[in-house]
Amino acid sequence: MSNRKILVTSALPYANGPIHIGHMLEYLQTDMWVRFQKQRGHTCHYVCADDTHGTPIMLKADREGITPEQLIAQVAKEHTRDFSNFGVAFDNYHSTHSEENKYFSSLIYTRLRDAGHISSRTITQAYDPVKEMFLPDRFIKGDCPKCGATEQYGDGCEVCGANYASSELKNAVSAISGEKPIDKESVHYFFNLADFAVMLKDWTTAGHLQPEVRNKLAEWLDSGLQQWDISRDAPYFGFEIPDAPHKYFYVWLDAPIGYMASFKNLCDKQGLDFDAFWAKDSKTELYHFIGKDIIYFHALFWPAMLQGADFRTPSAIFAHGFLTVNGEKMSKSRGTFITARTYLDHLNPEYLRYYFAAKLGAGVDDLDLNFDDFSQRVNSDLVGKVVNIGSRCSGFIAKRFDNRLSDALAEPQLWAEFIEANEIIAEFYENREFAKAMREIMALADKANRYIDEKKPWLIAKEEGKEAELQAVCTMGLNLFRVLVAYLKPVVPTLSYSAEVFLNCEVHGWIDELEPLLNHELNDFIPLMTRVEPDKIAAIIEASKENLEKTAAPVVKEKQFSPIANTIDINDFGKLDLRIAKILKAESVEGADKLLHLTVDIGDETRSIFAGIKSAYSPEQLEGHLTLVIANLAPRKMRFGLSEGMVLAAGGDDGIYLLSPDSGAVAGMRVK
Ligand code: MSP
Ligand code: ZN
Repeated sequence: MSNRKILVTSALPYANGPIHIGHMLEYLQTDMWVRFQKQRGHTCHYVCADDTHGTPIMLKADREGITPEQLIAQVAKEHTRDFSNFGVAFDNYHSTHSEENKYFSSLIYTRLRDAGHISSRTITQAYDPVKEMFLPDRFIKGDCPKCGATEQYGDGCEVCGANYASSELKNAVSAISGEKPIDKESVHYFFNLADFAVMLKDWTTAGHLQPEVRNKLAEWLDSGLQQWDISRDAPYFGFEIPDAPHKYFYVWLDAPIGYMASFKNLCDKQGLDFDAFWAKDSKTELYHFIGKDIIYFHALFWPAMLQGADFRTPSAIFAHGFLTVNGEKMSKSRGTFITARTYLDHLNPEYLRYYFAAKLGAGVDDLDLNFDDFSQRVNSDLVGKVVNIGSRCSGFIAKRFDNRLSDALAEPQLWAEFIEANEIIAEFYENREFAKAMREIMALADKANRYIDEKKPWLIAKEEGKEAELQAVCTMGLNLFRVLVAYLKPVVPTLSYSAEVFLNCEVHGWIDELEPLLNHELNDFIPLMTRVEPDKIAAIIEASKENLEKTAAPVVKEKQFSPIANTIDINDFGKLDLRIAKILKAESVEGADKLLHLTVDIGDETRSIFAGIKSAYSPEQLEGHLTLVIANLAPRKMRFGLSEGMVLAAGGDDGIYLLSPDSGAVAGMRVK
């Protein structure tokens, strides 16, 4: 096996929000592939970065009253912590807001310009006269020109699915200031993608893409290549274009260049040869793992930019599908928009690593995280099949043989079979057929368990004079266990590492080089993984719903920044059925730290309401108390029952204060 030199990237996550488990599908897929390559003995560098530029990040910082630099520094900390807790082992994690990226963005731009691939012309765009900035489509809202739905954004209607130009929206207003946008002219810079039509036709059909991606591209190429607008006007958080003051590179221009920048940063730290990976004639391999939503940028713009600026093009683009949860798009209200942090607060990250591996293929199909299936697979495969072999055999070796293995294998044939499987398993890993690799490994685990079931060490242990046989059977079982764990190392590195500690021997290379452990002393067995606890999953869903309530807060902040967008009129207010309510009963809710279950009298009926106020009130304190509720809030099904309204409280991080009326008010009075 010759040593390959490989550079791998995952798409750069936007620095305007937390990492969620949809993102994790990509970073875990890439990480598993990289770990596999390293275990095979190849030189493999895995780099990534935060994607920090653009309007949404600028506006978010604005809303939070901090600078974009402060925002991206804070987000970078959160992102890197999430990744590292999930075991994603980047060799370098950088930022697109870096010196290296500025340098390469300017370099690539000037090379493209000097080769005649950049042109400029004046275009007319929507402009927010209050905020004094041009408005990207998704910052313009109004009524859908097709179906009339209100509150639709300029990039498409969520109700009827229509696509239209933002100028077609009826009653359009800026989503930032609420003001009616005006048309304004400005000079923009364009990348002449059509100059690369021939090159792209060749490149996209030369084995760099998955078949289904290639077909999609053929459609795009046939419909003709448009000029790509690569500039944005100030104010914009990004890099100023070298020869065009107050014009900035569009975020998608410098984002992929961020791959180079992060690698350059790594080269400077470790003395690696940058050109060996990026120069036109380089013989190394370059792979980009991405989601299917960003194929256009990676399979058209990026290769063309690289070619036009005299750099090498990628060896391949590996696109994956989208993660759905319980069969549906991740949804905040269903509690399935799960952040990496929320998951980590409750469950072992290696469960998810294994689950993704067990379901991932090389294509662009979406992948569903079904929580029942998740528990079942992790419990039955990892815990029930693999870890179980270790615990079944280790006890006897510890108690009866002082933790020492016998000096020969009982079934060399079975060992050989386990080792020979390395070729097919390696091939599956190499081709990103993780599900197939997992199936192969679990079939071996079944074999190992069958061996133990047949030999029945627990019976041998009771017979006199069968010491050697007992030791031999357990030695065989533990050696098979070791092979399985070595195969699983790219997927569940922590589990594998703990097993290696128990086995008192690390596996470094690939399994074809593995020798059996004989006459070898083990350490005491350590519990390697426990079963998935169902209440932890319920807790994740619940916490994700709470996240939603928390993320509703910035709307208030937006108001400081633009008074117009967030006012409601008297009719909106009239829709609220606000009433004085008397708390008849207050009880704790088993399994919920934050909730109290309230029974309230709202005049003409009693209601059952769950309120997140337990941290501030004990149940006894509340009974007989008057407060305010929204009586016509749609009932919400919670894990603990139906909540039929909402009690009003002030506060947040610094305490919770239930609102109550002045003395004299009685239950059922309406707020007007
Ligand atoms: N910043 C751009 C990428 C620039 S690369 C030069 C971006 N960022 S992102 O944060 O929106 O997404 C990062 C990666 O996560 C993308 O590859 C995207 O496809 C992937 N995913 C985001 N949500 C996902 C799912 N629900 N499921 C699977 N992958 C998902 O795009
Ligand atoms: Zn519509």
